[in-house]
Amino acid sequence: MSSDGISRRHFATLAGAAALGLSAAPAHPADGGTRENASASFPAGFRWGTATSAYQIEGAVNEDGRGPAIWDRFAHTPGTIIDHSNADVACDHYRLYRDDVQLMKALGSMAYRFSIAWPRVFPDGSGTPNPNGLGFYDRLIDELLANGIEPFATLYHWDLPQTLQDRFGGWMSRDTAKVFADYAAYVAERLSDRVSHIFTINECSRLVHLGHGLGIDAPGLKLPQAELNQVRHNVALGHGLAVQAIRARGRPGTKVGPAENLVVCIPAIDTPANVRAAEIATRELNGGYLTVMFEGRYTDGFLAEAGKDAPKYTAEDLRIISSPIDFLGLNIYKPDHYVMAADNERGFALAPFPASFPHMDADWLRVGPEAMYWAPRHAAKLWGVQSIYVTENGTSSADEVAADGNVYDLDRVMYLRNYLQQLQRATSQGVPVAGYFLWSLIDNFEWADGYEKRFGLYRVDFKTQRRTPKLSASFYREVIKQNAVV
Ligand code: BG6
Repeated sequence: MSSDGISRRHFATLAGAAALGLSAAPAHPADGGTRENASASFPAGFRWGTATSAYQIEGAVNEDGRGPAIWDRFAHTPGTIIDHSNADVACDHYRLYRDDVQLMKALGSMAYRFSIAWPRVFPDGSGTPNPNGLGFYDRLIDELLANGIEPFATLYHWDLPQTLQDRFGGWMSRDTAKVFADYAAYVAERLSDRVSHIFTINECSRLVHLGHGLGIDAPGLKLPQAELNQVRHNVALGHGLAVQAIRARGRPGTKVGPAENLVVCIPAIDTPANVRAAEIATRELNGGYLTVMFEGRYTDGFLAEAGKDAPKYTAEDLRIISSPIDFLGLNIYKPDHYVMAADNERGFALAPFPASFPHMDADWLRVGPEAMYWAPRHAAKLWGVQSIYVTENGTSSADEVAADGNVYDLDRVMYLRNYLQQLQRATSQGVPVAGYFLWSLIDNFEWADGYEKRFGLYRVDFKTQRRTPKLSASFYREVIKQNAVV
């Protein structure tokens, strides 16, 4: 298929979406829009962006020397993916990336968070790099910059080279943490002239729990507790080693941090005692990830709970894991716990969720917009974090194409409006959130949910690769334009 054909189809789609306001001049308040409420504004210079990950959108799994990833093996194993699909083609972004950058531009977004596929860069996980693999990201970055969009790169969004899993059990071994640092150094050396923000690992906690504890994500393991705790430690170590490698080999001034889905603890009722209890809970329940990264030690509560299954580590490991970072990335989708003060050893109690608690188009996606307020606030207060990015937020929705060809994803708009209002509440109180990346730019391969769950601002027809903006794309465009929740 010629790239011309692709572009024509793409722009025809955008033109057809004029009804949603994406290709037309935006409505001025005086033309009937709502007058901007100054108190709903975000700080000047706030960065609005979208997020994706390599494996979920790129496709082209055998192109230009890419090696296999654990997700290739996993997705091709019968019974792992709900709709029996895989990401061999996904959104074909490897070929359509220029068109996809235009989708970002149509939103007016200033930043884009993408991930680099480790098996494209090091097909064997380590050793000899594949220059053609990094070449794709060179082209993507140049295209972003040419369109005024700042690239934010994630080094690891779960697509571990399969050879590392085969050679030493992937994250079960410290060797993976070490070769991850080599890969980080190589990428930083070559891309940090144009990429000034690098995320190490996307969601350490999910890759540990869903990939190695529950077997829902690749590599599909269900390890006993002691081994799982060791994986958790190795992953945190990989983060710390990568931070050091980027400092050593990236351009001076390159900023680095994790993108973590911290366990979000919300005071059940906003009283001083409950707020304090929620802070204690945040520190304890994130003991294996953010707490050790910021504090350089496992909490007593974490070690007591692990007991004889605690990971094996050295003092030097803890020093590496807590290497200073420049910013904290937070993926925030849902509240994890509503917390109350309690007169017990832990100092907090978790309120059980009633069966009627509302959720979006996925059972796990509980609706709790105030997660967006409390998560960054706790991080700033507990660990003195000076710079926070919301690296993911969004929702799946049972999108349908209406008779007029549009997608009226009112539930996604409702979700985003409520969550963004809470984020604005945080920034208006001085919580240092510098930017927000909406998950996701386009519908994509949603891991074990295959293509059944749609998170995009743009609908993807996976048969034709046609992209159609949804109502939420128009909503987000207005938010960006006004730098305020509309
Ligand atoms: C985040 C991941 O955990 O959640 C994304 O970083 C993912 O990669 C998103 O797509 C939605 O999760 P799921 O399980 O619904 O695909």
